[in-house]
Amino acid sequence: MFMQSSSSCAMFNLCIFLLLLFLLGSAKAETKNEVKTKVYLSPKIELGPGMVSNKNYPAIDFPQGHVAIKSFDAELVDQDGNPVPLYQTYLHHWILIKYYQPIHNSTLPPIIFGNVSGVCNGNSLISLGSGSETRKTLSHVPDPYGIVVGNPSDAPAGYEEKWLLNVHAIDTRGVVDKLGCLECTCDLYNVTTDEDGKPLPPDYYGGMRCCRDGTRCSLKGGYNKGGNITYYLKYTVRYMDWDPSIVPVRLFVLDVTDIVTKANGSQGIVYQHDCQVEYQVKKSCSNITDFAKNGCTDTKSVSFSFPVGGKLVYGVGHLHVGGVSIAIHGQDGRDICTSTTIYGKGTKAGNEAGYVVGMSTCYPKPGSVKIGGGETITLVSKYNSARRHAGVMGLFNILLADS
Ligand SMILES: *[C@@H]1O[C@H](CO)[C@@H](O)[C@H](O)[C@H]1NC(C)=O
Ligand SMILES: *[C@@H]1O[C@H](CO)[C@@H](O)[C@H](O)[C@H]1NC(C)=O
Ligand SMILES: *[C@@H]1O[C@H](CO)[C@@H](O)[C@H](O)[C@H]1NC(C)=O
Ligand SMILES: *[C@@H]1O[C@H](CO)[C@@H](O)[C@H](O)[C@H]1NC(C)=O
Ligand SMILES: *[C@@H]1O[C@H](CO)[C@@H](O)[C@H](O)[C@H]1NC(C)=O
Ligand SMILES: *[C@@H]1O[C@H](CO)[C@@H](O)[C@H](O)[C@H]1NC(C)=O
Repeated sequence: MFMQSSSSCAMFNLCIFLLLLFLLGSAKAETKNEVKTKVYLSPKIELGPGMVSNKNYPAIDFPQGHVAIKSFDAELVDQDGNPVPLYQTYLHHWILIKYYQPIHNSTLPPIIFGNVSGVCNGNSLISLGSGSETRKTLSHVPDPYGIVVGNPSDAPAGYEEKWLLNVHAIDTRGVVDKLGCLECTCDLYNVTTDEDGKPLPPDYYGGMRCCRDGTRCSLKGGYNKGGNITYYLKYTVRYMDWDPSIVPVRLFVLDVTDIVTKANGSQGIVYQHDCQVEYQVKKSCSNITDFAKNGCTDTKSVSFSFPVGGKLVYGVGHLHVGGVSIAIHGQDGRDICTSTTIYGKGTKAGNEAGYVVGMSTCYPKPGSVKIGGGETITLVSKYNSARRHAGVMGLFNILLADS
């Protein structure tokens, strides 16, 4: 528009006036709070065939300052930056944890973990997390909302905010049983004791206690192709500088394995959440009668009182291979959010056949879905039980804005 008027600018003063208008307009556009994108790489993750890495990386690269996270996406890449397919190296999970460390050398405790909204006791530290499904799962936080981080006034005095990244990856080149390895079947890892050398319970046939950092899944006899490969978790953060028009959201991590107990404390009734994170799915479908009865579906559920009320902004589940769906229902039975698995159908990274490559998400119309403070909600996780599944999960991450 400016170009058009300049070409027909007969009067010099008018041209100057239009130029000034244009410059003012563009200056205003530049100061508009825009979404920025930064792409980072985790430290190196070196793996040989069958090997497991489950390591914590403190003080990772992260946007600086008081910002609102608008999305966080991640994937495993190799040294050349190529996406690594899940059948080569399985991304079991990545987790981001907020913590504070002393700004100066001092006698202060070296680490204080940031508190997110919960509800699980152990994993209420998790700020964000995902797994194999990370490539095809939408993570954006819609306007005007944002996950607000880096607010200096949130840090305890003398501390600054840092982020810890945990990445659990399993290299399944040349292994006997890829699904068995990614389900962390203890036999395949030749693991019978926990990290402290205590025997694992006899009914614990698979899970994270068996595919620990440094363990190796059974390789096919004679497999000797391929040495170590260096991988990185590549993570892409979209964020905005904090401004008062951004409405902060709170993250809640819900877990279908939650064991909820009521305690009568000095403040009245308090709920304690002991989340187990993993569970086992028994094969429950050997014949046509079984199939008619339960459709080869294992259903697990838990109900508890939700601590605080709010408006649902975003919801996404986390399930492993065999997973069908995970849902949150309200006290009146209404569907608050249902997240279903997306399975790959091909060979490219992001579409690996047989793997969970994505989870569907909920983006309700603003304000249309609410959870009441103290409302009893029910989490229902479904897996296909035509075969046994070890170490599966039924997690739900939701972002809530205050009502
Ligand atoms: C391969 O990587 C592992 C760590 O996963 C390391 O312990 C081992 O020494 C490496 N092997 C070679 C040949 O570099
Ligand atoms: C902190 O103090 C220790 C020993 O007192 C010293 O080795 C270290 O270099 C100091 N670090 C910084 C960042 O000043
Ligand atoms: C988080 O909560 C724990 C336990 O209530 C507390 O010790 C810790 O100081 C809190 N962290 C922050 C950063 O407030
Ligand atoms: C399994 O572990 C036991 C001891 O923990 C060891 O003796 C045995 O050689 C291991 N088997 C394989 C196949 O690595
Ligand atoms: C909880 O404890 C208080 C006294 O500490 C008692 O008056 C109250 O009845 C108790 N409530 C329940 C539900 O047990
Ligand atoms: C089907 O399998 C179940 C065990 O999964 C068994 O209890 C039941 O008897 C079987 N029914 C038939 C008709 O074979």
